[in-house]
Amino acid sequence: MKHLLKLADLSREEILSVLNLADQLKYERKNGFSKPYLQGKKLGMIFQKSSTRTRVSFETGMYELGGYALFLSNRDLQIGRGEPVEDTARVLSRYLDGVMIRTFEQKEVEDFAKYGSIPVINGLTDYCHPCQVLADLMTVREVKGSFKNLKLCFIGDGNNMANSLMVGAIKTGMAFSIACPKGYEPDGGLVEWAKANGEFTMTEDVSEAARGADVIYTDVWASMGQESEKQSREKAFKGYQVNGELMSVANKNAMVLHCLPAHRGEEITADVFEAHADEIFEEAENRLHAQKAVMCKLMK
Ligand code: CP
Ligand code: NVA
Repeated sequence: MKHLLKLADLSREEILSVLNLADQLKYERKNGFSKPYLQGKKLGMIFQKSSTRTRVSFETGMYELGGYALFLSNRDLQIGRGEPVEDTARVLSRYLDGVMIRTFEQKEVEDFAKYGSIPVINGLTDYCHPCQVLADLMTVREVKGSFKNLKLCFIGDGNNMANSLMVGAIKTGMAFSIACPKGYEPDGGLVEWAKANGEFTMTEDVSEAARGADVIYTDVWASMGQESEKQSREKAFKGYQVNGELMSVANKNAMVLHCLPAHRGEEITADVFEAHADEIFEEAENRLHAQKAVMCKLMK
């Protein structure tokens, strides 16, 4: 594993190995014997979009590992004034030991990896969100004990979260279903891959997707960068909501996950959110452990 650009690049074994290390790091931190595995290492964090969890978990995670993290906003970097990514990558590779990038185009993180000489971590693009899904998988395994015989169901937009979740679910052996409106399906290439490599269902019917599910997952109707589509999306996604009725067709002990931020009353009702708040905030905490594991794998 040289980079974390998308989950599809990782083998099942590599994903499980990251999750195992994440569990170990969580255990060590909880019991007060965290070790500075990345003493003196420097991580650059380039943000072209807003963030609460990703920024704070990478920054504190690096601190806990004995390293240093630099927050680099595109408003301050020359990249925001048009300096090409291939130049930025070659320059930053001479100062840093790794870089995390949150941006719009997947091509930008891929290009950074191509032209730079340090590990690159995708902190969310329009195409995928691998760090989030590693934390999600960690949370599922923590609550359910294993991935055996589980079905993960995603309700809503076939966006970056859906793209990464379907890969993560299928690589770890879970069945994956998605209910999304016509025109809002996940990436076509990934759909083909999922059909060929696992148990995959795609439907417009939320009950059909949720039936018998062990994990119900949802995300916002309008992602960062889609603010101008807010109204048309509210119309398209009406009914694509995780609510009491939907939960009644899922398995009895189904868990609910959300990458956050959540919009109560849109993709999830306040009562379902609060009933599953323990799982959702454990999932948010697990961002820290999963990303520390990724940094150790790539930068140690
Ligand atoms: N889930 C997630 O990536 O949150 P942030 O946008 O706050 O980083
Ligand atoms: N799909 C959302 C995820 C936020 C973590 C977005 O891209 O805004």
